[in-house]
Amino acid sequence: KTPIAILISGRGSNMRALIDSCARPDYPARIALVLSNNPDAPGLEVARAAGLEAHAIDHRPYRRDREAHERALDAALRAAGVEYVCLAGYMRLLTPFLTTAWAGRMLNIHPSLLPAFAGLHTHERALESRVRIHGCTVHLVTEGMDEGPILGQAAVPVLAGDTPDTLAARVLRQEHRLYPAALHHVLAPRTAPEPHETDCLLSV
Ligand code: GAR
Repeated sequence: KTPIAILISGRGSNMRALIDSCARPDYPARIALVLSNNPDAPGLEVARAAGLEAHAIDHRPYRRDREAHERALDAALRAAGVEYVCLAGYMRLLTPFLTTAWAGRMLNIHPSLLPAFAGLHTHERALESRVRIHGCTVHLVTEGMDEGPILGQAAVPVLAGDTPDTLAARVLRQEHRLYPAALHHVLAPRTAPEPHETDCLLSV
């Protein structure tokens, strides 16, 4: 199994989905490390309860030097023997130091159908734009925010009466399917399950 790290900033529900997939014997990744920039991230406790090594590397002492924070992250990733990094609700912009160091080996999940709605508040903006299909994207991380090559997308309908919260919940259910599927395709494309023919909403 390929050793991966998961970087979080908050509740860690996408991390939880990856933990559950990695627990399956036939899944090609194992979680070597969970890191958070936020010492109070509830996801850190979720990871520890699952028996994982989970640490906070607080960004605040590095406020004047983003790259120094990333050098600390990078050192922890390398010390743990990590080969791939999954950003899962990691809410810090990265500098070219980290995106270059992990080019092709760092994935992110974003709650919109990129290239639509890069950045924050994606569900509010989708509703304001009156799109009828919304969703989530897993992509490789590059220097530009939410700009890297797309690995997979899952779509959901926008329903009459949706609020940002109801739409976010519908997208999140798909995020939890998409992220493990996309990572499987990256690490072991030959053993990754094909999306169902009838499942037009999931494309990896
Ligand atoms: C997820 O919806 C993820 O797509 C989003 O933050 C949430 C984290 O939830 N990420 C971004 O907006 C990145 N720009 P989680 O902590 O429960 O996985």
